[in-house]
Amino acid sequence: MLRTGVLPPTLFNLCRPLLLLLPTHIRSCQKLGMVGAGRKSANCSENMEGVKRGTLMVMEGCDRTGKTTQAKQLVEFLNSAGKPTVFMRFPERSTHIGGIIDKYLSNTQELDDRAIHLLFSANRWELLPEIQKVLKSGTNIIIDRYAYSGVAFSAAKPGMSLEWCKGSDAGLPRPDLVLFLDLTPEQALSRGGYGTERYEIQKFQERVRENYHSLKDNSWKMIDADRTIEKLQEVLRTEVLNAVNSVKQKELPLLW
Ligand SMILES: Nc1ncnc2c1ncn2[C@@H]1O[C@H](COP(=O)(O)OP(=O)(O)OP(=O)(O)O)[C@@H](O)[C@H]1O
Ligand SMILES: [Mg+2]
Repeated sequence: MLRTGVLPPTLFNLCRPLLLLLPTHIRSCQKLGMVGAGRKSANCSENMEGVKRGTLMVMEGCDRTGKTTQAKQLVEFLNSAGKPTVFMRFPERSTHIGGIIDKYLSNTQELDDRAIHLLFSANRWELLPEIQKVLKSGTNIIIDRYAYSGVAFSAAKPGMSLEWCKGSDAGLPRPDLVLFLDLTPEQALSRGGYGTERYEIQKFQERVRENYHSLKDNSWKMIDADRTIEKLQEVLRTEVLNAVNSVKQKELPLLW
């Protein structure tokens, strides 16, 4: 039973989309054997037809580090190398939850810091069945931003701790590979300046970068992004090929 008493009424209303999603999420996790009996990983290495699961790869980094440019080129590269791969991004603004996030980011809607954090997280959970379906079919995924962005940005706000922010993404699939494009905020700024969205402020980006560095684990590759688009692409291609070729029969672990 969900007890509304643990959240103030306005926060409860704002988080309603997340709460409504939970039963669906739990059902899809049960189907996939991801919850129950204290499981810490999902055995998605093979589907019923014995197809090797796809590789889950994530592009991370502060604003303007080149994530979208590189992710799209990597998807094209892998497909042309005969390794079926799809592009996904977070936030995914096309859903109902994504629409609220879009309004928040473009400064047309105000939300409590915790409420928007949970909505970013809910946006990832609502796409989980799609992620699982694609991976099970043997197709790789490159995601432009993931839970690490969610935590690094929210925890850069006053009064928001890394640990609290990590909570709502616990149990999502842990990527096989995280490509972190590292650039100082000054270098990023020289790429035509930050835009007009809410988080595009240099001081804020510095705190986000520090948070990212506290989140890294052994799935992360720290990539110096201060190179031309072509040089960076060359380095990243080697990393994604290694990941795709080495994932074979390994189970898909869970965050965190
Ligand atoms: N290696 C690079 N060197 C110089 N400029 C670059 C490089 N990569 C991307 N750019 C330029 O920097 C800008 C931001 O690139 P891109 O949108 O790929 O970054 P991003 O990390 O996805 O940004 P955001 O966080 O805002 O989504 C674009 O104008 C792009 O053409
Ligand atoms: Mg981008």
